[in-house]
Amino acid sequence: MACHLVTGGAGFIGSCYVLQARRRGVRVITLDKLTYAGNPDNLAALREDPDHVFVRGDIGNAELVACLLATYRPDAVVNFAAESHVDRSIVDPDAFVRTNVLGTASLLRVVKDWWQALPAAAAADFRFLHVSTDEVYGALQPEDPPFRETTPYSPNSPYSASKAASDHFVRAFHETYGLPVLLTNCSNNYGPRQFPEKLIPLVIGNALDRKPLPVYGQGTNIRDWLHVEDHCAAIARVLEDGRIGRAYNVGGRAERANVDVVRAVCALLDEMAPSAAGPYADLITFVADRPGHDFRYAIDCTRIERELGWKPAHDFASGLRETVRWYLDNGPWLERVRSGEYRWWMEANYRHRGAGGAA
Ligand code: NAD
Ligand code: DAU
Repeated sequence: MACHLVTGGAGFIGSCYVLQARRRGVRVITLDKLTYAGNPDNLAALREDPDHVFVRGDIGNAELVACLLATYRPDAVVNFAAESHVDRSIVDPDAFVRTNVLGTASLLRVVKDWWQALPAAAAADFRFLHVSTDEVYGALQPEDPPFRETTPYSPNSPYSASKAASDHFVRAFHETYGLPVLLTNCSNNYGPRQFPEKLIPLVIGNALDRKPLPVYGQGTNIRDWLHVEDHCAAIARVLEDGRIGRAYNVGGRAERANVDVVRAVCALLDEMAPSAAGPYADLITFVADRPGHDFRYAIDCTRIERELGWKPAHDFASGLRETVRWYLDNGPWLERVRSGEYRWWMEANYRHRGAGGAA
């Protein structure tokens, strides 16, 4: 039975990957620190599963990682663990350096030491896949071509700078030690179980509470949206057949301006959870912009399509509809994650923007 060590597997994308991997019959060891964004409920379906092991811990804990590698002898390490929210990186960049840069470098070093001592056949089959982002490429203007794997890195936020640094370490471990690495650089994900600091679940939660829906700047910034299940399917394809040392861009070919995404969520809520107080779009509030806000991201995913035959299964309209439905059907999940630390964050990030009461 194949075995994957999945870091950050209690987060939004990692948990989707873990659930998919178990459906494919892969044994999974999840290593997750359970920061504010990590949620054991995301893996509740695996509580009785003997082929899923959950370990609470930090990717930067070299002793723990070495012990997990020696105990479970995974065929692959899939690294999702990261601080992932751009706005938080503006408030506290150090946390991003600790996990995304130092944590990844430590993980790589421990995995490399273990991998070097494996018998030849096991060493040849092993893969280290690092999950990265399109944000490392910087910002596009409306007429620019989409990011390719050859686009030079030009990160603009502490988050994207820390992800760029981790990508460089991953490449360096391949060039220097021959570690069989793979990278994926994906666009904005949406879907079930996303922490509601991110645009789509934040808007759904605020709308249902009849609170302002904060849109940064003019709402004209553009993101390319991909359903989380399609992202995880792409990662699985890259692990299976990706060329060692290569990066693969992953995207949905679904570029949308932020305000249009927010309006689309509002229209779905009007249909599925109509409010006597009026249309949800009435709650849209333009607020102070994100400093250094990248204008546009767009992904050219020709390489993964041509080399590996990957294509997204969801289109944005039906994927967004399913996603809104999921949050409506999972009110208790949303309520649990919106207590405690979340309240502090909403106050810290929105109060000064002029959307007083966005939380
Ligand atoms: P998330 O914030 O929902 O989850 C991150 C997970 O990592 C959490 O479970 C957290 O507890 C865990 N974690 C954080 N620090 C850790 C540490 N030091 N040791 C072990 N675990 C730790 O993030 P996400 O949206 O699921 O993103 C996962 C990965 O995908 C990240 O690397 C992110 O950069 C990348 N990515 C995200 C998107 C997106 O749209 N969300 C797009 C492209 C790439
Ligand atoms: O592109 C991939 C990246 O997508 C990932 O690497 C990141 O981990 C992930 O968080 C996401 O980053 P973004 O900054 O694009 O996602 P976020 O949901 O925070 O914001 C999406 C857009 O919406 C962005 O242009 C900022 C805007 N926005 C966001 C929030 C939270 C608002 O207008 N209002 C808001 O309240």
